[in-house]
Amino acid sequence: MVIVVRVIYPRFSKSAFRGGLSGLSAAKDIAAAGKSFAILEARDRVGGRVLNVNLLDGQAEEAGAEFVGPTQDRVLALADSLGLTTYPTYREGNCSMLRNGTLTTYPFQPSSIPPLSTEVLLELLSFQSDLNSMAAGVSTEAPWDHPNASIWDNMTVATYLDSKITLSDSRFLLENDITSVLSTEPNEPSLLYLLAYIAGGANKKTTGTIGRLINVADGAQESRIDGGTQLLPLKLADGLGSKNIHLSNPVRKITLENDQYTVTSDKMQISTQQVIVAMSPPMAGRISYYPLLPAGRDQLTQRMAMGAIGKAIAIYPYPWWRKLGLNVQGLSDSGSIRVTYDNSPKEASFGAIMGFIEADEMRKLDDSGEKKVRAQVIQSLVGMFGDQAANPTRVINQRWDAEEFSRGGPVAFAPPGVLTEYGPHLKAPVGGIHFAGTETSLEWAGHMDGAISSGERVAAEVLMALK
Ligand SMILES: Cc1cc2nc3c(=O)[nH]c(=O)nc-3n(C[C@H](O)[C@H](O)[C@H](O)COP(=O)(O)OP(=O)(O)OC[C@H]3O[C@@H](n4cnc5c(N)ncnc54)[C@H](O)[C@@H]3O)c2cc1C
Ligand SMILES: *[C@@H]1O[C@H](CO)[C@@H](O)[C@H](O)[C@H]1NC(C)=O
Ligand SMILES: *[C@@H]1O[C@H](CO)[C@@H](O)[C@H](O)[C@H]1NC(C)=O
Ligand SMILES: *[C@@H]1O[C@H](CO)[C@@H](O)[C@H](O)[C@H]1NC(C)=O
Ligand SMILES: *[C@@H]1O[C@H](CO)[C@@H](O)[C@H](O)[C@H]1NC(C)=O
Repeated sequence: MVIVVRVIYPRFSKSAFRGGLSGLSAAKDIAAAGKSFAILEARDRVGGRVLNVNLLDGQAEEAGAEFVGPTQDRVLALADSLGLTTYPTYREGNCSMLRNGTLTTYPFQPSSIPPLSTEVLLELLSFQSDLNSMAAGVSTEAPWDHPNASIWDNMTVATYLDSKITLSDSRFLLENDITSVLSTEPNEPSLLYLLAYIAGGANKKTTGTIGRLINVADGAQESRIDGGTQLLPLKLADGLGSKNIHLSNPVRKITLENDQYTVTSDKMQISTQQVIVAMSPPMAGRISYYPLLPAGRDQLTQRMAMGAIGKAIAIYPYPWWRKLGLNVQGLSDSGSIRVTYDNSPKEASFGAIMGFIEADEMRKLDDSGEKKVRAQVIQSLVGMFGDQAANPTRVINQRWDAEEFSRGGPVAFAPPGVLTEYGPHLKAPVGGIHFAGTETSLEWAGHMDGAISSGERVAAEVLMALK
């Protein structure tokens, strides 16, 4: 979404009313400071990458962002302030792993490491500890300032794995971890980008670790929000007032003339002093800016790319796996879905298994029809959890790569060379144009928490500029 602040001359035809979490968080602080503002949102709904699919009985399933966890202070505080509560991600019973065609079930591990050989365990622990200590030295404010930045930004995560990992099972688990965090293959993001992402998975009092990103216990997948995460943007939007939110209004052009910005969207044009562009860099790059933005800013938006991601949720009349002693936290080395969770609602009024379709697996299906994707989803779930998984009453399939105003997810990542060459352009304002979005956050970039703190940062920037 785009937010214009201190509106000078609004001209628009009244439209149907009701942006992303970063934009709404910025608008909340700007409204609280008593400044006039208008929100221009491309979609016919608020939430962006946060989306509830509503089911019978007022229950919802998240087709986008879902989990919250410790040290995500901004999102937890927002949920609390909006009267929302959290509950633990279901974990009672055994996890499942499909590896080399063999299914293994094993008790839930706080470390998320399945029972493999001692050599594998030792290699993994030593690798994770190296990665964590490298990340601990990376500042999320300026990762490019690290003494090793040019070395670490010179290689992909896959190149680094090649140099450190010798055992096939360690490689399988680490690839699975990286793909489930960024929805890329390990040969896409730079090592420096991954280190900064790990460093960012923390609040000011803690240090980020790879475990914090991937784990359920004490990690980013620890809890869910009762009623679904889209209640966050919906309730924020209620507080901002529908008259200030203009849906179905993609912004196409931002022009500066005589110290005044004109923001042109499909249904209206607004003149204003300050503009917030609250979306991922690739989406921000699709707006035309006059005068042109600095070359470095535009090249950054050309180079940061969205992960390829789909989220599938199979619905069953009840969570039948629980009686069998399974928690459907699954890992697999094959099939369209390689990571799963029990997505049943808090009261378990129906059963739901959620699986991500990520990176190469999503790309393989991007051009396929719904029927094929549904068949692939069911095949993966049957492989991990048996024949009872074969007959869901419904399969929700959210294909983010095909969403006009996201074109992938969960986050825009940086391939090699991008952070060191263009990193400072991520959040540097250009005149009265300010950039929010989870990608710009120092803490929990890529997550809802990061989106909220980026909105708060940008609101402070704008309020300062208006002083
Ligand atoms: C499948 C999936 C799973 C995820 N899981 C989690 C999770 O478990 N936990 C977690 O914390 N995070 C998760 N995330 C990430 C989380 O959703 C994002 O970090 C967060 O929602 C980003 O918010 P944002 O405001 O920065 O961007 P967005 O949500 O992308 O908001 C940008 C807004 O701008 C709008 N827009 C785009 N172009 C224009 C234009 N030209 N004019 C006007 N408006 C425009 C978009 O419609 C959108 O509303 C997940 C994401 C996905 C896709
Ligand atoms: C759970 O895992 C343990 C240890 O691997 C195993 O002995 C037990 O049979 C499993 N139970 C189920 C229901 O899979
Ligand atoms: C930089 O990398 C080298 C070699 O990989 C390593 O020995 C050194 O400790 C790193 N420096 C810092 C500050 O992390
Ligand atoms: C980056 O990689 C190139 C090509 O592999 C190599 O020539 C160069 O020395 C590397 N630079 C650093 C700083 O590692
Ligand atoms: C899987 O197969 C690879 C060889 O292809 C082997 O190295 C590995 O140990 C196997 N892992 C398990 C858990 O069977």
